[in-house]
Amino acid sequence: MRLAIGAAVLLLCCGLVSAAPKLREYKDGKEASDAAKELGSMNGNSRKALFQQWKQNNGKDYADNSAADRAAFAAWSDNLDAVVEHNKKSGVKFFKGLSAYSDLTFAEFKDKWLMPDRPVSDIPVVPSAKKFSPGGSRKLKQTPPLEFDWRARGVVPPARNQGGCGACWAFAGLGAMEIKARIDGTQLNPDLSEQQIVDCAGGGVGANGFGSYGCNGGWSNDAYGYVAKLQAVKETAYPYTGVTGTCRDTSVSLDGSLTMTAQPGFQGVINSAQAIMQAVSSTGPVSHYFNVQDSFYYYSGGIYQASQCTADTYNHAMIIVGYNATAGIGSPDSYFIVRNSWGNWGVDGGYIKPSSVSSTIASAPHSLINGYKNVLAVAVETDYSFPLAEKVKAYLADPFAFASTDAPAAGSGDAPAAAAAAAPEEEEEDEDMGFSLFD
Ligand SMILES: *[C@@H]1O[C@H](CO)[C@@H](O)[C@H](O)[C@H]1NC(C)=O
Repeated sequence: MRLAIGAAVLLLCCGLVSAAPKLREYKDGKEASDAAKELGSMNGNSRKALFQQWKQNNGKDYADNSAADRAAFAAWSDNLDAVVEHNKKSGVKFFKGLSAYSDLTFAEFKDKWLMPDRPVSDIPVVPSAKKFSPGGSRKLKQTPPLEFDWRARGVVPPARNQGGCGACWAFAGLGAMEIKARIDGTQLNPDLSEQQIVDCAGGGVGANGFGSYGCNGGWSNDAYGYVAKLQAVKETAYPYTGVTGTCRDTSVSLDGSLTMTAQPGFQGVINSAQAIMQAVSSTGPVSHYFNVQDSFYYYSGGIYQASQCTADTYNHAMIIVGYNATAGIGSPDSYFIVRNSWGNWGVDGGYIKPSSVSSTIASAPHSLINGYKNVLAVAVETDYSFPLAEKVKAYLADPFAFASTDAPAAGSGDAPAAAAAAAPEEEEEDEDMGFSLFD
């Protein structure tokens, strides 16, 4: 029996090796449409064989012809149809493909991997650290370079994988801090614990504390805020489980931990391609919220254009690590380079390149940049009046009391971030760029 399966698989491979059309990561329209033509003209048996091969390549272990297998094939087959239908059209700017998650319908994927649509009004207020100054003095008058990519500087670790848990907000927040720590020249190789953020900043503590919802979604603001008040520990000290758990005492896990100065801490970036470009190139990665639609789920090459996005709710968060605006700011061919947290998905091992035109970035008007100073393997942040370990213990003992006594003074009375974006406060400094970089 085992032999027979082996032989069948072998035959299948040999039969398909030369002919198997590419299923993902299309580099241009011709490659995508050629593959679409081939995939679209396959008969039922070839399609089944291709599914078997896809299962093998993606380590899917549901048994042939089990109920799970049949459901997976039905979803996969519908997804393949969507890929073919889109990619065979001429003039499309991005291409669809199959990923490791293509045995789920978009609705199933959304349910597990995305956070429930959360309204903009749920976003915690960004503490107003008015003195934010990248590199010691604000250089906002400079025009940002037209092309920039932190990956080319070797500071961006491989994309993480959040699994079937809506913890994008923790990954987008912590991931940006890990990259920023590398930009700041840390000798350590930070791989910080998202689980800690999920458990400790995701407990729904309240408006002044950390009010995110663990695997049920949340805001990178809380990841930043948590690290600014307490600390992030290494992944090895608090490994990822992908389910919301109870916050553990990590006050003794200081080796390789990271914290953030309270000032400048982190700040909001206004919803403008130029402001985001400026923030990315002058300071570091930008975490941002996004509204993922089904076309995004299928993304596998080219420059993603959102067709039906709304800016009223968000269901995802990611990290902008670069951009390319050589086609011109406002051109649909200019894009951001965005690291997702779905493992090897999209292009380049986990990335999407969304167009930087407003119709696409309008789905991501709330972006955050961190201007923290990383402190690695150091127990106490100089800004704190008592040791960090005590702070962690105090938080665990009574998060509500902690939140109310230690809330950022500047943030509490302020207008929400979106309204603050319109405030003319920084106008003088930024006047020759015609916009204000930070909320
Ligand atoms: C940046 O965009 C331009 C114009 O769209 C393109 O020709 C160029 O190859 C892109 N650069 C990179 C590094 O992909």
